Amino acid sequence: MSWLFRRELELSKTMTDSIRAQRGYFEGFGGAYVPEILQATFEELNLAFEAARSDPSFWREYLELMSSYSCRPTPLTFAENLTRHFGGARIYIKREDLNHTGAHKANNVMGQGLLVKRMGKRRVIAETGAGQHGVATATMAAKFGFDCTIYMGEVDVERQRPNVFWMEQLGATVVPVTEGSRTLKDAINEAFRDWVSNMDDTHYVLGTACGPHPFPEMVTYFQSIIGLEARKQVLEITGQLPKRVYACVGGGSNAMGIFSGFLEDRGVELVGVEAAGRGLHTGEHAARLASRDASVGVAQGYKTYFLQNEDGQMNETHSVAAGLDYVGVSPILAHFHETGRARFEATTDAEVVLALKLTIRKEGLIPALESSHAFAQAFKEAPGLTPQDVILINQSGRGDKDIFTIADAFHDPKWEAFIQRKAESYRA
Ligand SMILES: Cc1ncc(COP(=O)(O)O)c(C=O)c1O
Repeated sequence: MSWLFRRELELSKTMTDSIRAQRGYFEGFGGAYVPEILQATFEELNLAFEAARSDPSFWREYLELMSSYSCRPTPLTFAENLTRHFGGARIYIKREDLNHTGAHKANNVMGQGLLVKRMGKRRVIAETGAGQHGVATATMAAKFGFDCTIYMGEVDVERQRPNVFWMEQLGATVVPVTEGSRTLKDAINEAFRDWVSNMDDTHYVLGTACGPHPFPEMVTYFQSIIGLEARKQVLEITGQLPKRVYACVGGGSNAMGIFSGFLEDRGVELVGVEAAGRGLHTGEHAARLASRDASVGVAQGYKTYFLQNEDGQMNETHSVAAGLDYVGVSPILAHFHETGRARFEATTDAEVVLALKLTIRKEGLIPALESSHAFAQAFKEAPGLTPQDVILINQSGRGDKDIFTIADAFHDPKWEAFIQRKAESYRA
């Protein structure tokens, strides 16, 4: 990264200071509902984060690390063929897939790693859904010399096996969680249980802009590097701001990351895309803000929209993308939903698979299934805009980890034959 670019990011960092919780809340969403035993740990984290944030050398150290270790700044790619295909808005893609470990998760994890060093702890734990956050955390732990345990729902262990393999090679212990729906929310519960017993030497590297204060704000702070870069790049390349910015929404960290660059630009519409799974009408989805199925409640230490029943029990969610398969959503995005600062849509598994196929064929890019939700929604809307308009899609990660799910969805007979041969060779 050139010193000039770094200097500009240092200066523009103050923009993200507009995302500050008021006593832990974003207009009624958020808070820190933590057991008494963890209160001192949260206080320690709050103090460490505030001290780091007000120390300019911390952000400089972070930018240095991200440029030398994680290929930042990631480029903005003009999707020329897709633009021609749809004949409407010019489509640009922010390439978070080019981060080390293949997704935006590295931005948050490396930042929290620097904070852990400052706090003098030696062990990190994390939850993971798609496995990208787990791989990023295991990578950070290997680099900084921390012990590492990753909690992952048993269902996700099965569908994201390549990431489990890499986490273990990186030295992490991966614990499959067999409680509840055996997906992300259950992994978060287990990580909190571990933290309660080991808070003295352990930091919980929460992977998204959810959970008790200060996690939503802190994760957004580190992910804001996406939006800070993207705003500068789109102005440089096109001479204008985008009309719309699209990001998929699991817990909300990549969306908060790219949105934070454009919050003050009222003419830029921010579009968060959730998982409509098998269709909103089926109830088998993970759309908290784009459906009417969620309601405001408190769980996992914070207040937001949850997919829950009348008794406050969490519902089962479904998405083809493990990283979007979650019952809650960032309290900051819930706040944007209420104020209208962002619009929330949902795309189905089937639409996502089509969008992914098209992107692979037209641009030679392989977005993660999570990211493909943002692509699918942008593709629905691009034809209705004009070539004067620019739209920006956040490609939060790369699709290599999804090879088993995507191959199943594409019904590729050569792949199936390969897997069968492989299985037979293990049986022999
Ligand atoms: C590539 C990718 N994109 C998006 C997400 C969703 O998370 P978030 O909403 O925090 O960005 C995940 C989660 O695992 C992911 O791996």
